Amino acid sequence: MKALLLAGGLGTRLRPLTLHLPKPLAPVMDRPWLEHLIEHLKLQGIDEFVIAVHHHADRIEQKLGDGDRLGVRIAYSREPRPLGTAGAIRHALDLLGDRFIVVNADIIHLVRLVPLLEFHRNHRALVTIGLTEVEDPSHFGVVERAWDGRVLRFVEKPSRERAPSRLVNAGVYVMERAAVERIPAGREVSIERETFPALIASGAAVFGCPVQGYWLDMGTLERYMQLHRDLLDERVHLPGMPRASRPGVWIGPGARVHPAARLVPPVWLGEGCRIGAGCTVGPHAVIGAEVELLSHTRVTDAIILPRVQVSGITTIGNAIVGPDFTAALRPITAAQTEGVLQP
Ligand code: GDD
Ligand code: MG
Repeated sequence: MKALLLAGGLGTRLRPLTLHLPKPLAPVMDRPWLEHLIEHLKLQGIDEFVIAVHHHADRIEQKLGDGDRLGVRIAYSREPRPLGTAGAIRHALDLLGDRFIVVNADIIHLVRLVPLLEFHRNHRALVTIGLTEVEDPSHFGVVERAWDGRVLRFVEKPSRERAPSRLVNAGVYVMERAAVERIPAGREVSIERETFPALIASGAAVFGCPVQGYWLDMGTLERYMQLHRDLLDERVHLPGMPRASRPGVWIGPGARVHPAARLVPPVWLGEGCRIGAGCTVGPHAVIGAEVELLSHTRVTDAIILPRVQVSGITTIGNAIVGPDFTAALRPITAAQTEGVLQP
């Protein structure tokens, strides 16, 4: 079965991380998120991918190529201008089969596809929308369902008071080709604001099915940080992520730690990084590949992106540090962990 990955958005809420990088390529434990997503979907039986790209299309194509390195086949559907979430699917139609999966590529989900596909088949659905429950649905597409799972209403980002439920669009769909043929071609179309409401109004078989597995929208810096905390705490495991060298400590190949440095688990040290004398790293520190921490640096609750050099005698806490920016974060609160299902 094929999967279409929607990866053409701008990702403005993840700035400055996404100033020079498309959101789906945001590094997660030293690997572009898209690679983790593809590895996960591959384990779920998907072996052919179509990636719908527009912004930073070249970067994505260069990084993933034809998929050979990941043991899958990847084709690209390039939009001449952003066509929106439904327009992108319509544009890619010739590359897809009669039934396929659509995934928002900026969503961290390790969702099990088999139950979703079974549900879709059993209900003879035209579209099945994977759903998840969140505390505050106002940032998502919210559904109201009938007893049998049929979607009666789909409202994109309603105010909190107007949300018909707390069940939201998880950004994973099973779709029949016939549904996509109903999307107008050649213009921008939003699946959330136009296609789903129109299909539902016409009485089409649009169903919603709660998904199981870890799910997190990494659309903001706080959530991006939350994902890393969950990985370090082993609340979730990514298929391509190596095992810890000892409990809570990941040390990549060629990483060098000065004997007078202290590692406080959980901590991730990327390939080839260097930790100088007197540094304290962790808890909850992700040190990217080739990063150099000179002497007496303290890093807690922070992500340092690959190849950054930190000049020493500094304390970095609650921050994401990139090659040309530092994004200080507010402390992560319980409210920001919403949307996380137990694996
Ligand atoms: N190819 C292409 N072209 N992709 C696009 C375009 C486009 O014009 N616009 C957006 N995308 C991609 C984005 O890269 C992202 O992966 C996905 O489509 C969803 O777009 P976002 O802009 O990230 O939407 P959102 O996060 O505000 O809301 C969506 O995701 C929620 C789940 O987190 C909606 O689908 C909500 O209903 C849903 O709940
Ligand atoms: Mg998004």
